[in-house]
Amino acid sequence: MINLIPKPKNLIETAEWFSFEKNNATAFVSCELKEIKEMLGVVMGFEFKEAKNNATISFIFDNSESRDSYSLIVDKSGIKVFASNCEGAFYALQTVRQLFEADFPSKKCLACHFVKITNDKPKYEWRGLHLDESRHFFGKETVKKMLDFMALYKLNRFHWHLTDDQGWRIEIKKYPLLTQIGSKRKYSQVGNWNSKKIDGKPVEGFYTQEDIKEIVEYAKKRQIEIVPEIDFPAHSAALLASYNHLACRDIPCEVFTFFGGIIPESRGNKMWNRPLCLGKEEVYNFVYDVIDEVSKLFPFEYFHVGGDEAPRNEWKQCPCCQAKMKEENLKNEDELQGYFTNKVNEHLRSKGKIMIGWNEILKADLINRDIVAQYWTPQRDKNVTTHLKQGGKVILSCHKAFYFDMNYSYVTLKSTYNFNPVLNNVPKDYLSNVLGLEAENWTEWIDSEEMLFYKIYPRALALAENAWSDESVKNYSDFCQRLKRHNKIMDALGIYYGDEKITVHRSVLYKSRMASKLNLKLTDFDSEYRISKNVKPK
Ligand code: ACM
Ligand code: ZN
Repeated sequence: MINLIPKPKNLIETAEWFSFEKNNATAFVSCELKEIKEMLGVVMGFEFKEAKNNATISFIFDNSESRDSYSLIVDKSGIKVFASNCEGAFYALQTVRQLFEADFPSKKCLACHFVKITNDKPKYEWRGLHLDESRHFFGKETVKKMLDFMALYKLNRFHWHLTDDQGWRIEIKKYPLLTQIGSKRKYSQVGNWNSKKIDGKPVEGFYTQEDIKEIVEYAKKRQIEIVPEIDFPAHSAALLASYNHLACRDIPCEVFTFFGGIIPESRGNKMWNRPLCLGKEEVYNFVYDVIDEVSKLFPFEYFHVGGDEAPRNEWKQCPCCQAKMKEENLKNEDELQGYFTNKVNEHLRSKGKIMIGWNEILKADLINRDIVAQYWTPQRDKNVTTHLKQGGKVILSCHKAFYFDMNYSYVTLKSTYNFNPVLNNVPKDYLSNVLGLEAENWTEWIDSEEMLFYKIYPRALALAENAWSDESVKNYSDFCQRLKRHNKIMDALGIYYGDEKITVHRSVLYKSRMASKLNLKLTDFDSEYRISKNVKPK
């Protein structure tokens, strides 16, 4: 049985086998698809000699395939890939990796049933994973591992959350203190949002601009575009620790060591959550400067500016912010943030970039609609509906389905797999304004690569199938059957993952959690996961 994830719509399998020795593998590549030739060995993990005839794998140019679609035939004469460009050919190659289980490094001979896959293509152009490296810094090797993992499941957008209250992680040459001060914190809160425990260990780390270029290049080779996120105007404690005067009040502050909740205030730190001042011209110039440097490093046209959870109290009391509101005729602080968002958007447009922000940026009606809203809040946000109706685009990251930092008992595998935009506040008539789906990996409580992959897998596979496969072939229990084989692939690759442990009544799991607050139904059964234990990381 074929265990492909995401599942292609048109797939015929027959009982005969095609097999080849890795040592003797050969490839033919049409000149139009020559880019795939450079990637072939890297992606497959072994070399192919060039061949004109009777190649093990042939890449044939076929302009009836769209930009990211492909067809694939495996029969007695070998593997034939049909694509109109490198993107489609690359996706075909991921299918080949899975079909032949080419990811088992110890295998010398690869075999698979005869297969015909026709016109396999994604449902959404945006199939993303996010990584928060502010709360915990993982570094280049983990990021590359994540990109490799994404490629195998045809995920193509990596949203890199590089700044937040607890650390600034990207070198900005014009503002060196952002990393000299902002990339370091004295210790971290451990446990959970209400925990008073700290670990006493200093944290530091950031990416130089050279590191960033290296990762962008690495991703590009895997058909993955990287979207940087620089969070303005809130979540800016690390920024303000570096440049105090960019807040409404020019007072000293530290890179934040707690992750939020009520603890900071109970410890007498009432001012940790201060935003940038939106009344000072120098703040706008600072933001533009940072955007300019970051834009040059990331060739992708999208740029994420955050914009979530910006508190209003500082702005309400700040003479500069209030003067700005008067001067620009802004009714309230929501409009002040809307004004800021429009200015930043204008700047991004002048650099050829498209702005993405969390859905809170839609609070002011004056917002321009040529931006993308990332819809994460679990509650319905009527501003998103307005945005869609006015032609705005969205990326869907609903908390209940795509916040992978949450427990498996809250963001269940099934809820990721079955997430349906129409049942989650996207009116049917505006489905064409949905760019796609993306899952968030916030890392307040994720401090290791093992824990990160435990959270990501298997939910990222459910996301991948939901974002790629046609509704007619999606089926949760069939997906769970196919998944079992993929655990073995993770074992072979030395990647930790979430391994199904037991099936328990949800109410047991929710008992001490936030069930009533989040209005969850406690009637279903679901699984809890443990970290896989068969893995020896390489
Ligand atoms: C968010 O989770 N604050 C976007
Ligand atoms: Zn101000």
